[in-house]
Amino acid sequence: MKVKRRPLGKTGLEVSPLGLGTWAMGGHVPTWGHVDDNESIATIQQAIDLGLNLFDSAPIYGLGHSEELLGKAVRGRRESVVLATKCGLLPPNREGQLPPRCLSFDSILSECEGSLRRLRTDRIDLYQCHWPDPETPIRETMQALTTLQKQGKIRAIGLSNFSYEQIATASEYGPIHCLQPPLSMLQRRSAEDLIPYCQERDIAVIAYGPLCKGLLTGKFSESSSFEDIRAKDPEFLGDRFRQNLRTVERLRTIAQRLGKTMSQLAVNWAANHPGVTCAILGAKRPSQLTENAGGIGWALSDDDRMEIDAILREGGS
Ligand SMILES: NC(=O)c1ccc[n+]([C@@H]2O[C@H](COP(=O)([O-])OP(=O)(O)OC[C@H]3O[C@@H](n4cnc5c(N)ncnc54)[C@H](OP(=O)(O)O)[C@@H]3O)[C@@H](O)[C@H]2O)c1
Repeated sequence: MKVKRRPLGKTGLEVSPLGLGTWAMGGHVPTWGHVDDNESIATIQQAIDLGLNLFDSAPIYGLGHSEELLGKAVRGRRESVVLATKCGLLPPNREGQLPPRCLSFDSILSECEGSLRRLRTDRIDLYQCHWPDPETPIRETMQALTTLQKQGKIRAIGLSNFSYEQIATASEYGPIHCLQPPLSMLQRRSAEDLIPYCQERDIAVIAYGPLCKGLLTGKFSESSSFEDIRAKDPEFLGDRFRQNLRTVERLRTIAQRLGKTMSQLAVNWAANHPGVTCAILGAKRPSQLTENAGGIGWALSDDDRMEIDAILREGGS
């Protein structure tokens, strides 16, 4: 499949409109349930075969395991992929603790060395701050990132989960090439002001979670129960979950009319949302990825988009 590439902002890099995230592949069972390393590697390689070139990871995903698998899977094909990873979330000190945030100069430089080693590369294409760190001045963080850029260890600088005020402050100290916010049919807040802000400044947008952790595949019902990360996710709880299921059922009729699966409709909506450069989804096995990749290479009509928007507004998510 020939996949048309899009410029990643001002970086000079070009990416497919759909990319693969490797969070679940980290294999931390309480987070994402069971994953199999061989399937994960096959999925990454299948993505390259399908013409996708953006791969996203982070040291916190399986405490390095996701990066290791990604490095292994792209060996020999490094030049055909864009490798994105992150810094700023440190391993928890005890079971159940949220990862402490740290974007200090020394911590970023040390984290970067670890990521380069695990990814088996001498240059990270896109290096992103995972979450803002309120304890570290953004000037110090940017100093670390621009130092790494000058050293040739990273090519482009990205921020994830930052507000546009925080992006504006960071931009005073160096180039911000890319933002990674959440965006799916069920989580559209970033589309209100954040994505337009980036669009106006030619900052690339890599939208994460276009399937809302699988909810938008249409495979769940009221009787579904969750033991992984979804067990505490508000989208999967109580009335909101039931409303989401009703919304998905209505969206499914549009997917069926277009001859697509629900996943493909959700992927298409996110990847072609105005201002989005690339949508990164998760897939645990090649069959999921193959289905999802059918979400690009075609366009929703304006009428379809309007009908979808009306359903989403009525769904109130
Ligand atoms: N920067 C951040 O803070 C941040 C946060 C979240 C994610 N991300 C990035 O975005 C990536 C994607 O996030 P995500 O994994 O939450 O996204 P997602 O694409 O919304 O959900 C992926 C999950 O949905 C299920 N799925 C996918 N395709 C399917 C199919 N065709 N049929 C049935 N089930 C299917 C799989 O889980 P099951 O098989 O278990 O149902 C899969 O792991 C991450 O890997 C990460 O790189 C970044």
